[in-house]
Amino acid sequence: MITALDHIAIAVPDLERAVKRFMEDFGLPFEGTEDVAAAKTKTAFFPLPPTSIELVHPLNGEGPIAGYLEKRGGGLHHLCFRSDDIDADVAHLRSKGYQFLSDAPSPGAHGSRVIFIHPRSCDGVLIELNQPASDHAH
Ligand code: CO
Repeated sequence: MITALDHIAIAVPDLERAVKRFMEDFGLPFEGTEDVAAAKTKTAFFPLPPTSIELVHPLNGEGPIAGYLEKRGGGLHHLCFRSDDIDADVAHLRSKGYQFLSDAPSPGAHGSRVIFIHPRSCDGVLIELNQPASDHAH
């Protein structure tokens, strides 16, 4: 089941400058950066309960965010729904014909499990489903 809008992600060409903007100019609480190797992405989170702003930047200059920046120079990249059972939600959406960017969820920031729905299934918007670490079924 989808339970919250977990975060909205912005692709940024200069992570340090964007962190400063959100932290110093906008006064948002900065949670820190995290390298998500599986996604070749460096992330920076600004919790703004009940959601967060996520800055995403290529890790080591490569990966899907690098491609996005090359094409668009930066911008709104994805929105993310929090799930309390990502496997069930993926199965449910697949049965309705939704296409995903990968076969199964992969590791995301904060020890979460994440998967992306193809933008062509959602009117051009990239949507991430995210199950936080604390909600993992054991
Ligand atoms: Co995200």
